[in-house]
Amino acid sequence: MTPNCTSAIHLLLLGLGIGPGDEVIVPECTWIASATHITHVGATTVFADIDEATWCMSATSLEAAITPRTKAVIVVDLYGNMPDLDAIRQVADRHRIVVIEDAAGALGSVYQGAKAGSFGIGSVFSFHRTKTITTGEGGMLLVDDDRLFKRCHFLRDHGRSQTKHYFNTEVAYKYMPCNLLAALGHAQFQRIEVLVQAKRHLLSRYRQAFADIPDLYLNPEPPAGRNGAWCTALIFGKSHGMNKEKVIDELVKGGFEGRPFFYPLSSMPAYGGETPEKKCKNPVAYDLSGRGICLPASFRTSDEELLAYCNAIRSILGKSPLVNFT
Ligand SMILES: Cc1ncc(COP(=O)(O)O)c(C=O)c1O
Repeated sequence: MTPNCTSAIHLLLLGLGIGPGDEVIVPECTWIASATHITHVGATTVFADIDEATWCMSATSLEAAITPRTKAVIVVDLYGNMPDLDAIRQVADRHRIVVIEDAAGALGSVYQGAKAGSFGIGSVFSFHRTKTITTGEGGMLLVDDDRLFKRCHFLRDHGRSQTKHYFNTEVAYKYMPCNLLAALGHAQFQRIEVLVQAKRHLLSRYRQAFADIPDLYLNPEPPAGRNGAWCTALIFGKSHGMNKEKVIDELVKGGFEGRPFFYPLSSMPAYGGETPEKKCKNPVAYDLSGRGICLPASFRTSDEELLAYCNAIRSILGKSPLVNFT
């Protein structure tokens, strides 16, 4: 366990020895935490496009972003969706780069029979207050390599010697977990299926609410697996002529909250802002992000609240309201 998922990513990059002169690839559409520590270790962030069907990085976009300096790729299981990890692994192996799986929001997702978090040399989870399992703040680092595990373990506790008390052999970090929060997380792990099913219930309600409207897209189910549905997102197909700002404005006017699909990271001021070149390089991310919103995902959302929210979206699309869920 780590203080949060962001610090788990930092620890993993440090453990892998990634630093100045190295490049690390991340998808355009993710929470900024997937990428920030690439900058903090002194490496260069390279943004890859996302896939129209999975909304995650594709193997093709990964391959297009690889250069002789690429050391690692951080693949993100966005909103519980799973990327095509078989194809991504093949590309990464061919180019000898390590795969890190950011499964922050994918607890309970399964791809080709394997659980999210079991791919790559290391993976990370988040137990942030909005996540399927929460410890208020918290995260987890899973490492599939003994040497790397020992290195991360050492770096997270001030580079403390294993054999001599209060003796430090390197200037390192304080990324220790809080044991009280670990107890909270452990208790929630006992009922993980109940929590994941509650998230999947929301996804199935949304599927019902929009089933009669063509050209609308919700989190897809991965091949031979399932979507943990941490957060359901809705992409408006081009035929609806919608963009996320317009939908959010309408929702807010109706007294509802509206949250956007993640902006392409390269378009934000933190990474220098949008340019025609960036948009042209990763067109799917810029296009999909512009047409997507995140739907209410709280465990405590009642059917009545869900119905009112879905009907607000149906009304924006000029569709009649649903009377109830079946
Ligand atoms: C994809 C992704 N990665 C990393 C994080 C960071 O998690 P934390 O807030 O636990 O540091 C988040 C948080 O929402 C996330 O969605």
